[in-house]
Amino acid sequence: MENYSRRILNAAFFLAGIVRRNTIVIYERSPKGICFFIMCGIIAYAGTEDAAPILLEGLKRLEYRGYDSAGILTINGGSQFELKKDVGKVLEIHLKVNLLDLKGTIGIAHTRWATHGGVTRRNAHPHVSNNGKIAVIHNGIIENYKDLKAQLESEGFHFYSETDTEVVPNLIEYWMRIRGANFVQAALNSFQSLEGNFAIVVIDGDSKTMIGSKNGSPLVLGVGQDRNYFLASDIPAFLDRTKDVVYLYDGDTVVITQQETDRYEILDFRTGKKVERPVQSVSWDIEHAAKGEFDHFMLKEISEQVETIQRAASQDRQTIEEITARIRKARGVFLIGCGSSYHACLSASYLFSKLASFHINTVLASEFSAYEDFLKEDTLVIAVTQSGETIDVLDAIKTAKQKGCQIISIVNVMGSSATQFADASIFLNAGPEVSVLSTKTYTAQLAVLTLLAFSLAGKYDEGVRELKYLWNVVYNLTSQNMRTRLKQLADRLSTSEHIFVLGRGSLYATALEAALKVKEVSYIHAEAFAGGELKHGPISLIGKGTPVMVFVSKDTESKILSNAMEVKSRGGYLIGIGPSAIDAFDFFIKVPENEELNPISQIIPIQILAYQLAVILGHDPDRPRNLAKSVTVR
Ligand code: AGP
Repeated sequence: MENYSRRILNAAFFLAGIVRRNTIVIYERSPKGICFFIMCGIIAYAGTEDAAPILLEGLKRLEYRGYDSAGILTINGGSQFELKKDVGKVLEIHLKVNLLDLKGTIGIAHTRWATHGGVTRRNAHPHVSNNGKIAVIHNGIIENYKDLKAQLESEGFHFYSETDTEVVPNLIEYWMRIRGANFVQAALNSFQSLEGNFAIVVIDGDSKTMIGSKNGSPLVLGVGQDRNYFLASDIPAFLDRTKDVVYLYDGDTVVITQQETDRYEILDFRTGKKVERPVQSVSWDIEHAAKGEFDHFMLKEISEQVETIQRAASQDRQTIEEITARIRKARGVFLIGCGSSYHACLSASYLFSKLASFHINTVLASEFSAYEDFLKEDTLVIAVTQSGETIDVLDAIKTAKQKGCQIISIVNVMGSSATQFADASIFLNAGPEVSVLSTKTYTAQLAVLTLLAFSLAGKYDEGVRELKYLWNVVYNLTSQNMRTRLKQLADRLSTSEHIFVLGRGSLYATALEAALKVKEVSYIHAEAFAGGELKHGPISLIGKGTPVMVFVSKDTESKILSNAMEVKSRGGYLIGIGPSAIDAFDFFIKVPENEELNPISQIIPIQILAYQLAVILGHDPDRPRNLAKSVTVR
């Protein structure tokens, strides 16, 4: 895409980021085009109380942002750092190392969602400079960290982690020790040299000064009584301590010193000039604050799909091509999963056939043992699982490993069991999915599988391009206007006893996923059929007013619409989803034709519809009855 249109696209994203105040989707332009941030949770405190209990509580409230490793660092009575960090969830780490016995009234803490570098103790934050005087926590991506690391190594610095973050404290040490700058100026110089998104907090043991800076990733300042200050990714982290917050803007850099008289000041790291920001009081309670401006995590996560689909599509090319080569070489490939993850597998099987003329077996993980006689050493099993802990999937993987098969996992949670059993893994990078329902991770799975199918067809670049162009479709599908329109349909369907869903080809898998979304959160019986199956029995279920959803695409249009007319002639209430309406539709949801990507775009309105049905019917969309986020029992 030539520069001019990239600038237009960047501007659109940037405006979209401003316009979409009702979502947490934040776009940031950077020299390399649009970046999206990966979620971690950061919290820092400087004040008059013991820091450790405040930081531990804050970490627990931020765990929905990432939970594969965590750590706390404080400055004790002198100027020494006390640091504890490990892999695992916050409470697991606390029980192991007791995070509360860290001394001092100033400290920083971080809960990580691994991006650069695996899930290890070394890669956990906080990170410390070579001279042990500067410590940092960071959320975001430093795109030019390799160049900075090389420059620092040429100055004699060494690194112990694989993270991009570790360049920050050493840059500050470089500016202080080698170039003679004070801590504040060294920090400003260092932040100016970073490219990419970041929310960073650094502390200096000698001066007991804390500096927080924001550029594309969230950071907010909490102003407590009696010179108690908080910096965090999200307000919930300190909401029990103060409701007085300062919303920070890109470039804002808060300097907090612990001298008697000082308070804090805010500079712009790009100019070094002071800026004024108002202190505002929030009325949220804790649970509500974690959801941002949404009433439930489910709707928040549906809205994040503008970003998460792009992140899923932004894979390491080498990884995708290596796994593509394994698929090509294998004699027999199985895609396995449960629930929504199985629907993603089924959807992908159509795409592998259509794009790459490649036959792939799709099997429910719980049924996989029935096929074990087919398994050979050159069989490849691709396990698709958001949590990486679903017991049916782990059992299937173990069966395959006993037969000597190769295992690939497509997973959201780094360090999960499925990734440990796999020979190679592809990560969704969708961030934690708090709602029990799979929404953003379902479309992220589809995005990754779509990329694999394009790669198998020798069209990797085309696949990335197609997925990247999807953002504006998803942006419109998750807009307030669409939500308002779907509420009308939800009101109409909320009294239904049965809802049926029809689709053909890959949209049959979409129909299955739509039915699952509706039934698991509204408790209304919903059932999906392949369009061609209607006349083989299910049509006897259609009576006057029976609601039937029909997914329509260009390549299935003629046949699926004749199925729709069979429903209409028996008095059914027809709900059309697709690029163009027909008179027979009683309700029409417009989703532009996206060909191979139709399964990603067409499910989104039904995710929203399912959510609204649950709310109308008084159910908790995040915690539907009888369900768990990860089914770890047989
Ligand atoms: C879908 O909304 C459900 N949460 C459920 O079907 C889920 O997809 C299934 O349990 C598989 O979970 P996994 O992806 O973590 O393996």
